[in-house]
Amino acid sequence: MIMTDITLTIDGKQVAVPKGTSILQAAITAGITIPHYCWHPGLKAVGNCRMCLVQVEKWPKPVASCVQPVSEGMVVKTSTDEITKIRKSVMEFLLINHPLDCPTCDQAGECRLQDYYMNYDEVPSRFAEEKVSKNKMIDLGANVMLDQERCIACTRCIRVCQEVAGVDELTLANRGDHTMITTFPGKKLSNPYAGNTIDVCPVGALTNKDFRFKKRVWFLERTPSVCPGCSRGCNIEIHHEELKVYRLLPRYNPEVNNYWICDEGRYGYKFINEDRILRPRILEKNISHLVSSDEAVDRLAGLMKGGALDEIGVVANAQETNETLQALADFAKTVLKTRHLYFSRREVENPVSDNFLMTADKNPNQAFVDKLGFRPLSTLKEVRGLLVLNSLSPADMKKVIEKKVPILGIWASNENPAAHSSAVVFPIPTYAEQEGHFTNVRGLTQKITAAYPPRGEARLVSETLEELTERLQTNARSYTQNSYPLSPHL
Ligand code: FES
Repeated sequence: MIMTDITLTIDGKQVAVPKGTSILQAAITAGITIPHYCWHPGLKAVGNCRMCLVQVEKWPKPVASCVQPVSEGMVVKTSTDEITKIRKSVMEFLLINHPLDCPTCDQAGECRLQDYYMNYDEVPSRFAEEKVSKNKMIDLGANVMLDQERCIACTRCIRVCQEVAGVDELTLANRGDHTMITTFPGKKLSNPYAGNTIDVCPVGALTNKDFRFKKRVWFLERTPSVCPGCSRGCNIEIHHEELKVYRLLPRYNPEVNNYWICDEGRYGYKFINEDRILRPRILEKNISHLVSSDEAVDRLAGLMKGGALDEIGVVANAQETNETLQALADFAKTVLKTRHLYFSRREVENPVSDNFLMTADKNPNQAFVDKLGFRPLSTLKEVRGLLVLNSLSPADMKKVIEKKVPILGIWASNENPAAHSSAVVFPIPTYAEQEGHFTNVRGLTQKITAAYPPRGEARLVSETLEELTERLQTNARSYTQNSYPLSPHL
């Protein structure tokens, strides 16, 4: 239970907060915004930027609200004339050497320096001397670029490395207006959570190599979702325009990932944009033919009717949503009445895991696959054909080839070896294009939402399974499996 034992007044509003809370956090609780640069809710407060100064009644001097704990009966004022003057001065001081390169800066549109300038300064610079010049393009590591001139030395990035990733990779060097962020000699910014330094940078000093110069942020829409990169289920925002994803950012969830995501998840979105299967197709004498969805369903129903339905196996995949997996399990159990329920999954060589966010299982939904009773495809018994969801791991693909089991149909969003061998291929949406749920490694079920409609002719698996059920119950023409040998792509 949270103890709310300190009562204070901020801008005339009474607020009760736990002992030890800072004035800035108490103000947030009361719905009052205090401008700040160096304070971040996920990091230790250091009180170095002085933007958050406030006045406390009967106290002789303004105090930094991010580091000053509340006390009983305190009366705080956050926007007196004196405080506004102080903030103007802080802004003027920060802008003395800051380059005026907003038109080419990736942070434009989400820059606190820009925002606070409009709120507190908005006057031309009085500084006639030449600005101190620094290095504007330092490659800090795999994903991050540094512009030292834009840095305001808030040290958020240093603290992310220390407190989130647990490493010392960044530091401040030099003094006064020559202070600058740098890596320690001989070191790179290479920790697996380095991308979070970009998110916390309140200005455009740290930018994302993958994203910079690709899109102005005000064109991007934001959709809440869940990272499918591993079984942790970190909460993310998908930033997209039209039918293209430009970046993933962490979304706060104290139960799962707090304010952070790993770089593996952050940069694991490319498959949404690339190498997509956009139209249904059938494989005839090793040649692929694009067909309508109706024709594809007819063809698959025909193939399946070439023998007993319960001799067909289905292969689920831990990359798909609870709803898709449930639809496949229902179809297998009630329409095919098959006992051959298998799963395949994304396997990664030497998967990276840690005690923080990254898990060794690089699938978002293994928990739900297990719950539905699917077994590993390595236990494959005699079946006359397989229906596959998404893809097969290299080991599972090898097993299917060795056993000479034809893949009759596959539902896949991206090209993969199993899709190249399948007699019928149905395009499906990625996780970014559908609503649904993933159940994470701790059994927590979380919602994903569609950033935009499915691309091309992609449809939900449940829709084609419904049509397939109808066709299987009518007298559709049957085809023999032998017409569709395994493809040479294998
Ligand atoms: Fe309080 Fe920087 S936010 S001093």
